[in-house]
Amino acid sequence: MDAEKMFSSLILLILFFPFCTSTDTLKPNQSIKNGQSLMSKEKNFALGFFNPGNSSHWYLGIWYVKVTVQTVVWVANRNNPINGSSGVLSINQFGNLVLRDGYNRLLWTTNVSVQGTSTSTVAQLQDSGNLVLVRDNDKNVLWQSFDNHTDTLLPVKDMKVGMNRRTGMNWFLTSWKSEDDPGDGDYIYKLNPADSRQFFLYKGSTSTPLWRTGPWPWVIATEKTASDYEANFVSNQEEVSYSYFLDDPSVITRLVVHNSGLLQQLFWDDSDRQWKELWSAPKYRCDKYGQCGANSICSPDNMNRFECTCLPGYEPKSPRDWSLRNGSEGCARKQLVLSMCGNGEGFVNVGRVKIPDSPNPSQLDTSMSDEECEKGCLRNCSCTAFLSLNIDRKGIGCWTWYGELVDIAAYTSEGFDLKVRVDASELAKNTKKSKASLGKKGERAIAISSAAVALVLLSLLAYMWLMKKRKAKGSLEANELGDGSRHPDLLLFDLRCMVEATDNFSPTNKLGQGGFGSVFKGQFSNGQQIAVKRLSKSSGQGTEEFKNEVMLIAKLQHRNLVKILGCCIEGEEKMLIYEYMSNKSLDFFVFDDRRSSSLNWSKRFEIIIGIASGILYLHQDSRLRIIHRDLKTSNVLLDAEMNPKISDFGVACIFKGDQIQDKTSRVVGTYGYMPPEYAVFGRFSTKSDVFSFGVIVLEIVASTKNSSSYREHPSQTLIGHVSNRKQQSSAFACFS
Ligand SMILES: *[C@@H]1O[C@H](CO)[C@@H](O)[C@H](O)[C@H]1NC(C)=O
Ligand SMILES: *[C@@H]1O[C@H](CO)[C@@H](O)[C@H](O)[C@H]1NC(C)=O
Ligand SMILES: *[C@@H]1O[C@H](CO)[C@@H](O)[C@H](O)[C@H]1NC(C)=O
Repeated sequence: MDAEKMFSSLILLILFFPFCTSTDTLKPNQSIKNGQSLMSKEKNFALGFFNPGNSSHWYLGIWYVKVTVQTVVWVANRNNPINGSSGVLSINQFGNLVLRDGYNRLLWTTNVSVQGTSTSTVAQLQDSGNLVLVRDNDKNVLWQSFDNHTDTLLPVKDMKVGMNRRTGMNWFLTSWKSEDDPGDGDYIYKLNPADSRQFFLYKGSTSTPLWRTGPWPWVIATEKTASDYEANFVSNQEEVSYSYFLDDPSVITRLVVHNSGLLQQLFWDDSDRQWKELWSAPKYRCDKYGQCGANSICSPDNMNRFECTCLPGYEPKSPRDWSLRNGSEGCARKQLVLSMCGNGEGFVNVGRVKIPDSPNPSQLDTSMSDEECEKGCLRNCSCTAFLSLNIDRKGIGCWTWYGELVDIAAYTSEGFDLKVRVDASELAKNTKKSKASLGKKGERAIAISSAAVALVLLSLLAYMWLMKKRKAKGSLEANELGDGSRHPDLLLFDLRCMVEATDNFSPTNKLGQGGFGSVFKGQFSNGQQIAVKRLSKSSGQGTEEFKNEVMLIAKLQHRNLVKILGCCIEGEEKMLIYEYMSNKSLDFFVFDDRRSSSLNWSKRFEIIIGIASGILYLHQDSRLRIIHRDLKTSNVLLDAEMNPKISDFGVACIFKGDQIQDKTSRVVGTYGYMPPEYAVFGRFSTKSDVFSFGVIVLEIVASTKNSSSYREHPSQTLIGHVSNRKQQSSAFACFS
């Protein structure tokens, strides 16, 4: 009796839940409902219903089976969610896949025409992650999800971005709206229609370019994982496309346009159970499309200079913006001494750059040799530059440009040699210069970062690594491109202008109170935001520190030091004008429970590295050896992207030549950050800053003030606490 019951319920199960033992194929008159799924043969991917993030809506999608964090790589009804939980996927009488909700409303369909109604179709989820609709009799693929991307490109040769020249089918990626909504978002990664060798990341309906790959061949270095990553670019009469694949199929990786506007190559780290980034873009300043405007070069690792430099023969279009370190207006041709048409003009080599973009698309001639390429460009007076990749590099061809050159980023280790047209006098100047620096070329340092090169920094040894590397770096300065390299003079603002910008130093604009005065937020009439440090008239430490700070910071240019825009001295009033830091200072984040929870470990690590490279610059890379003497979390400011910038040079000291230590009778600084020999004996050296840096690192890691006490040992500081904790010593050994 019992056995009979069991048998009949088993029959029921088989009848009503045909997918309990998952299959990879959906046949006519079968269907999938919520809770059921198709599973590919090797169990790589599953197709079924999911609700993303906190959403209560349901979507039909494909996700990884072996990845423990649900990761959806394809969504069918991304803009038509199922309200309630009753979606049904089936094959209709015309052979198409259809998705309906509980009210039988059609939400999504493959909508292809299946010739011959007598033949039926089946849908299959393949191990590559492709959902295909095939005709039963001849196995012809009628529709596939690999032709209808959402935001993800999988490492499979059959999944491409690009276009089919015959059918006009365009393969592109569109970000989700948010983590909760897979609907069409703001960011699109697609082939540039004007010149079909490069891909762009666009934003919004206006298709504002955010980043571009550059024409193939790209310089995108990826940190190698266990397996080699093979990029595949095809350009023929049939199609232009990019796809990639891995030799090792066990590595799980995906290219995704994230809803934050980043194009990311991620891989699944099974031991850490999370997705990790191999590279992403736009990540660095020079990745940003047109960061330096037209006719200029963005050098991402320009430690102590403005990142934009004009091409040879060009000068800043707006010198004022340029001096405020805003390069977006770009450069214009200098007044010509000689016309550039049959007047002895020629080309200056600009080495190791990303191939430029241009409003007048470049022309690519695949048949010309290097020499013909140069001659051809020289002959045509409107040709502004050329780049030939014919002899050394497998013969792609000769590019010529006939207008402005846009979005040139300098790479430090790879890249292409762009030849820029200049008049005879500029040519003479540059020949001299290049002779002088010829010997130095090979010494150029290896990249930390470059426009499209994203490196994953893995180790806290970065401080030491940077130190080693910078030694090779002195030669960079000699290697100047063009004329934009002059240090802009410090701007002198008048008091009226400051009063206007800060609304007469209104208390509502007050950002904080420093040792020697107050800091106000201000805004110039052009919209630029500034921070104004107004020295208090009564402060005993006025003029000396003021002069010190102005002189020092004006000479220091580094992305991890706060940038001074100018100063204002009128009568008793003394002010320093800095760039505005929208995220205030590090203490504001680290010591606040709520805000510090928004700082994940990798962000904290980046901040530490940023502070380290700022200090390193002060200690040994700048022309002066500078001891800051008052490093503390409240003197580390954070910009909008949370990049740390060291500020407050009021008590900094300059060391001359090879001096390594000094002694002072006037100990300044902040207790808790000062090393004992300085606090007690007044002796200081670069090591004093390193001590303070160590305290800052501990504070960042522990989210606790050094001076705050511990319940068990109220008399102890954070440092004392850490050094007592033997079991934790290994975690902190790296910092010592
Ligand atoms: C879901 O909601 C919780 C609480 O409101 C929030 O903390 C979390 O970030 C949300 N998750 C997503 C993916 O939006
Ligand atoms: C840079 O200058 C341009 C043109 O003057 C202006 O539109 C833009 O807002 C400025 N950018 C910044 C960051 O100040
Ligand atoms: C120079 O090249 C441009 C672009 O190819 C072309 O339109 C123009 O006719 C050429 N001029 C001469 C004088 O050959």
